[in-house]
Amino acid sequence: MRTIAILLVLFLAFVVLVVLFLVSGTYNIAAVEPQSAVVNQLFATLRDQSIAKHSQDIQPPSLTDPALVQSGFREYHSMCFSCHGAPGHKPSEIGRGLNPKPPQLDAEAVQVRGDAELYWIIKNGLRMTGMPAFGPIHEEKELWSIVAFLRRLPEMDAQAYDAMVEAAGLQGAGQMHAHVYGRGNEEEKTAQYQAAMTTHTVSHTLLGQNP
Ligand code: HEC
Repeated sequence: MRTIAILLVLFLAFVVLVVLFLVSGTYNIAAVEPQSAVVNQLFATLRDQSIAKHSQDIQPPSLTDPALVQSGFREYHSMCFSCHGAPGHKPSEIGRGLNPKPPQLDAEAVQVRGDAELYWIIKNGLRMTGMPAFGPIHEEKELWSIVAFLRRLPEMDAQAYDAMVEAAGLQGAGQMHAHVYGRGNEEEKTAQYQAAMTTHTVSHTLLGQNP
């Protein structure tokens, strides 16, 4: 009985300390403040286990079709480049100011994830990080096309990436889709998006080397 009472007092003291810490404002929430290694590790475990569990029943389609890779590149360049950069290209100021940092997606730590995991991350985003959910504004096929393109990143260098940007008639830095940021009315958005998806052609030679 005494032990239980002591444990209870200790527990209550702990709760009071936690509450005091929370309301004291001592914790520095600034993004420029590096995260402690312990919190980083805890978050990484939580994130990785959650991604693995939630994506376990997803069946990935075949992702080798060069046309799929090509449309994934367009999505990537307009929506991911600014935060994640690309082979030989640093992210924008936005990406560089984030904490946790957006990883380079050709990195082995990312590429070891399964296709279903990558799809799940892109579709649902990662809460409490800068990683947005793209599911609410994209078709399933578009999301898979991005995964298809991510798989090609490790074999690309800056020249190969730039060649794709040029062949697609896009600008060097990441441009956002009109439908993401909602410029113009519905008709303009659709027209801009369709133009981006269909009027430019990317050279298949680059993509076709290693289907
Ligand atoms: C506004 C910034 C931002 C944009 C835009 C963004 N991301 Fe992210 N992304 C992040 C951040 C930050 C993380 C790191 C989260 C973490 O540490 O868990 C991340 C993590 C990821 C991961 C998990 C990496 C790993 O294995 O740990 C993938 C995959 C990913 N992003 C893909 C994409 C793709 C594809 C796009 C475009 C469709 C995109 N991201 C757009 C910020 C962004």
